[in-house]
Amino acid sequence: MPAASFHFPKGFLWGCATAAHQVEGNNTNNNWYRWEQEGRTKHKSGLACDWWGGRWKEDFDRAAEAGQNAHRLSVEWSRIQPAPDRWDEEALERYRAMLRGLHERGMTPLVSLHHFTDPLWVYEMGDPSTGSGRGWENEAVVPLFEKFVRKTVEALKEYCTLWCTINEPNVYALSGYLSGDFPPGKQDNKLAMRVLANLLRGHAAAYRAIHEIQPEARVGYALHYRPQAPAHPASPLDRLMRNIRYSGINLGFPSGISTGVMRTPLGNFRVPEAKGTQDYLGLNYYSVDTVAFDLRRPRELFSRAYYPKEADLSPTGFIANIPEGLFQSIRWAQHTYPNLPILITENGVEDPDDRLRPRYLAQHIHQMWRAVNFNWPVKGYFHWSLVDNFEWERGWTQRFGLWGLDPETQQRIRRPSVDLYAAICRENGLTSEMVQQYCPEVFEKMFPD
Ligand code: BGC
Repeated sequence: MPAASFHFPKGFLWGCATAAHQVEGNNTNNNWYRWEQEGRTKHKSGLACDWWGGRWKEDFDRAAEAGQNAHRLSVEWSRIQPAPDRWDEEALERYRAMLRGLHERGMTPLVSLHHFTDPLWVYEMGDPSTGSGRGWENEAVVPLFEKFVRKTVEALKEYCTLWCTINEPNVYALSGYLSGDFPPGKQDNKLAMRVLANLLRGHAAAYRAIHEIQPEARVGYALHYRPQAPAHPASPLDRLMRNIRYSGINLGFPSGISTGVMRTPLGNFRVPEAKGTQDYLGLNYYSVDTVAFDLRRPRELFSRAYYPKEADLSPTGFIANIPEGLFQSIRWAQHTYPNLPILITENGVEDPDDRLRPRYLAQHIHQMWRAVNFNWPVKGYFHWSLVDNFEWERGWTQRFGLWGLDPETQQRIRRPSVDLYAAICRENGLTSEMVQQYCPEVFEKMFPD
């Protein structure tokens, strides 16, 4: 049996990623809570992982004991600023305690300032009868977001220098305004692009504000990057559809940050202040879509995205295990922004029985190692996620945690992937022994004779 080990550079960050609404519980003052009450999600978030009740302590203990040296979490705008003219200092104090808690356990925090949720007062602001739109449809949200960012960064700067302004702006805009799965559930592609442009303005304002307050800060955002493959590479129509989807999903924010003009298949938006506003690129990578031309789908601009029949699928079919896509994503990132540090800010799979997760984990980390060997500046990896948490419109039907959770009893269940990931973090690398022990089914593929 060949023995091998794939090591990462010294100081590499290894951790998990979480988001406030998905783990805190009792977040009653934001648009997702409203969406849940309206019956638009499979389940309700309820207590979630009860972090607001204090269980972050035991979960941070778990992460630290499992060798993790970093953690990505988000703060909840609606807790910190429950009304336009009110700050909740106690909420900020709790976030300070959490970040202190990470430091005490030897973990570096990465804080996201926006992860899908908006305070109800933001969600409802604006007057559609005057054409102003609500929430992020309305450019007036930009200075409000900046104000929130300033207050929060001032309060947390003692414990954090690594910031993510906005998580997956593309998913926020496309799911809320194109597929309609996220609040406000609209289906209007022009509006989706307007929202994306306002998020870019919000990101740029936050970037500058954070640097003003903390010059040494490293600020970026997390892009959901999704490679797209034409179903039949020889078919011009499949290729055309693939290109439209690819740029529509992936390139809005990156083009805006490169040039100050956000390019989308539906037109260009000038956001000059966005040019150059990133100190690292956060990549969230989950899977690759196959795209075919399909006349029966006018609403999706005549295309269909799916996973190939032979794909290694997660239990609900939500994710196909395509590790090479992570390598492609990193290659695209370093090609687009040479020398810009890259963080894998999310990567993971839903899998309650932990049958697929060990090989998903090992194979993706192997692909990340390949990228590191080209000297591409990948600086850290945050697995999604630490503990099963509330999966948005899919409720509790999908389990992304290294640790399982029974939301009724709050009991945590240690999955085998905990130990595989702990071994990787401690070794700062992946070895053939780990693959042999946790996912022997891919051993030959990963270590051919
Ligand atoms: C989001 C997470 C989510 C994960 C898995 C990402 O798009 O940032 O909040 O839980 O995917 O669905």
